Amino acid sequence: MIADRERTAERLLKSSADRSYDPDVDIDWDADLAPDKYFLPAHRCSLYGTPLWDGLSVEQRIELTKHELASIASVGIWFEVILMELLVRHAYNADPLTRHTQYALTEVADECRHSVMFARLIEKVGCPAYGPGHTALRLGRIFKDIAFGPSMFAGILVAEEITDALQRESMNDPSVQPLVRMVNRIHVIEEARHVRYAREEVLRGTPGLSRAALAYHRFMLARTAYIVTRSLIHPRVYRSVGLDPYEARRVAWANPHYQETLRWAGSKLVSFLDENTLIDGPSRKLWQAVHLV
Ligand SMILES: [Fe+2]
Ligand SMILES: [Fe+2]
Repeated sequence: MIADRERTAERLLKSSADRSYDPDVDIDWDADLAPDKYFLPAHRCSLYGTPLWDGLSVEQRIELTKHELASIASVGIWFEVILMELLVRHAYNADPLTRHTQYALTEVADECRHSVMFARLIEKVGCPAYGPGHTALRLGRIFKDIAFGPSMFAGILVAEEITDALQRESMNDPSVQPLVRMVNRIHVIEEARHVRYAREEVLRGTPGLSRAALAYHRFMLARTAYIVTRSLIHPRVYRSVGLDPYEARRVAWANPHYQETLRWAGSKLVSFLDENTLIDGPSRKLWQAVHLV
């Protein structure tokens, strides 16, 4: 049974009023970073368990997790900016008096604060905003102009749920920097509402699709999942510890630990989308190529 659209939005608005954060005041940006703490749980680093990892000192391992965190955060900003545009478009010709539209606008406000928070995090740790790379930037521009319906909301879920799994683990890990744990905690709390909103739209939008429409949404969604997953770690991060970016990237994608991390981070999302027939047919190969299926 799918919950009533207005009732869900009403609940999400109430939760937003009760529990929202302002990263400007809720985070102590002046606190020093801990010299001996990781920026991601070490076992989630893309090279963890490989000979390249074994060749790094503890300081270099910490440094690499810092750059991987910055890469993921900058890809988060990229996707949130896309998402804000999609939500604004979703609200454009919708009735502003519905709770559903009001919640879409509230979510834009959440994402707006998140993107500034991630930007300040990257700045604080002293890394570049790597971003998703040229190809993904170009494809993202097309995606944000043409996305609609189930593959739009499911595409949003891909970015939100994969990062959510990583952040939930990281926020509870005492080996991770306190600042990073706090950023993750804020993001996890607010994203839970977004996931609820998008999942229900997927549930409402998918069952009535024609066969051709379903094939289209499956393909668009698989492309999104492929591009987002491939973009998370920019190859240039490996230069921070003196590794060749393209060699290290090849090792990372062949790394069974990293493949398992991706599978684990996407598992709840993938079972939800699979149950709703959105992962099937020829596009399944794209999901497999990035180890989500
Ligand atoms: Fe967000
Ligand atoms: Fe979100």
